[in-house]
Amino acid sequence: MLEGKKILIGISGSIAAYKMAAMTRLFVKAGAEVKVIMTPSAHDFITPVTLSTLSKNKVHTNFVSSETGEWANHVELGLWADYFLIAPATANTLAKMAYGMCDNLLLATYLSARCPVIVAPAMDLDMFAHPSTNANLKTLSSYGVKIIEPNSGELASGLEGKGRMAEPEELIEYISNLTIATSVLKGKKILITAGPTYEHIDPVRFVGNHSTGKMGFAIAEEFALKGVKVILITGPSSQQVKQSNITRIDVTSADEMFDATVTHFPKCHIAVMSAAVADYAPEKVSISKIKKSGDSLQLKLKKTRDILKELGKLKTKKQILVGFALETDNEEANATKKLIEKNLDFIVLNSLKNKGAGFGFDTNMIQILHKDGQKINYGLKPKNEVAIDIVNQIIHLLHV
Ligand code: CTP
Repeated sequence: MLEGKKILIGISGSIAAYKMAAMTRLFVKAGAEVKVIMTPSAHDFITPVTLSTLSKNKVHTNFVSSETGEWANHVELGLWADYFLIAPATANTLAKMAYGMCDNLLLATYLSARCPVIVAPAMDLDMFAHPSTNANLKTLSSYGVKIIEPNSGELASGLEGKGRMAEPEELIEYISNLTIATSVLKGKKILITAGPTYEHIDPVRFVGNHSTGKMGFAIAEEFALKGVKVILITGPSSQQVKQSNITRIDVTSADEMFDATVTHFPKCHIAVMSAAVADYAPEKVSISKIKKSGDSLQLKLKKTRDILKELGKLKTKKQILVGFALETDNEEANATKKLIEKNLDFIVLNSLKNKGAGFGFDTNMIQILHKDGQKINYGLKPKNEVAIDIVNQIIHLLHV
C-alpha cells in the first residue's frame, strides 16, 4: 500500500526517537520515499547520519544549512509529502503546533503542510495526563491532525503508565490503513442525516426528541477529514460544521428530511442515517396558537414516511446504506429486524440501557450488526472515536 508514497517524518526530542531508525527502514522497505526533519533537541537522541543513511535522503534541521548555506524550503517539504508523521511528538512540540508557533523547521513545515498530519505522542505519564497536553491534543484533533495514542507500559523515567510512543509496526499499519481509506473513498460522495426532527403542532409548539446531532456530525467530520465530499442533512441542532467539504442542509420536519434525503441519495455512494426521525407527526397543524381551554387536549398524530426504508428500496448494488437503531428492550432482535426490513448493509445499535450512550452524551457505546450476521461490540468511547469505528466498517466493506 505504501509503494511510491512520499512520507515526511518529523522527529522531536524524546528518548523514543531511537525507534525512528527502525521506522524509517520499514517505510523504505515498503517502497515509500522518506524525508526526515529533526528538531534541534532530537539530535540528543538519534544522529542525522543514521537517518540519512536509512532514508537515503538528506536530513533537515535548520532553515539554512550550516555547511552549504542552502535554504531548507519548508513549504516545498510540506507540499512534497503525501503524509507527515510527527513521531515522537513531545509535549512541547504538540503545544507549539496547537498554538501555531514556528520556531523550528518541523513546526514551520507543519504549518505549511497540506497533506494528512499524524502525530505519535511520547512523554512521561504525568505529562501525557496533564490537562494542558489533553487540551492541546483536542485542539490539534479539531484541526484534523490524526493522533496515534501512546501505549501504556514502562517509561524512560522508570514510572509505569500511558506515554510510550506506539511501535514502528503500529505506526506503519496506521498509515497503510489511511492509504487504503484514501484510495477506496476517492471520488465518493457521502450522505448523512443527523439530529432530531420537529413536528409542528401550532406556530409555537412542536413534537420532538432529545437528539442533539452530535453522532451524525461526528461521522460527517470523520468522512470529511478523509477528503471526501459530504452532504449533511440535519434537523434542528446547535452543532457546527468544521470542514469545508461538508455541505449542510438544514431541515425541520420528517417530511422535509424525507424530501431532501431522497433527492440527494441517487448521487451518493454511501448513506448513513443517524437522525432521530419522528415516527408520528400531528395530523393537523394549527395556523394560530392553540389557546388553553378545558382540562385535557388530544393531539391526533399520523405516521411519517420512513426515510431509511425508502432508501432501502431505492438502493442500487453500488450503494452502501447504514442505519441506526436506538433500543431499550430486545435490542439485538429489534435491530436485526430493522437491518433486514430496511435493506441495510449494517446497522449501528445503541442501547439506552448502557450508561453514557444515546442522546446528549459526548460518548456512545455501539454494536454493529452486519447483514452477513457478523456482530462487533465496541466499548464506551467519545463520539468522534465511535465515528471512526463506523467509518472504518464502511471502508472495510468497500475494500473487500
Ligand atoms: N428512520 C428514518 N425515518 C423514519 C424513522 C426512522 O429514516 N421515519 C431511520 C433512523 O434514522 C434510523 C433507523 O431508521 O437510522 C431506525 O430508527 P428507529 O427510530 O430506531 O426505528 P424505527 O424504524 O422508527 O422503529 P421504532 O421507533 O419502532 O423502534
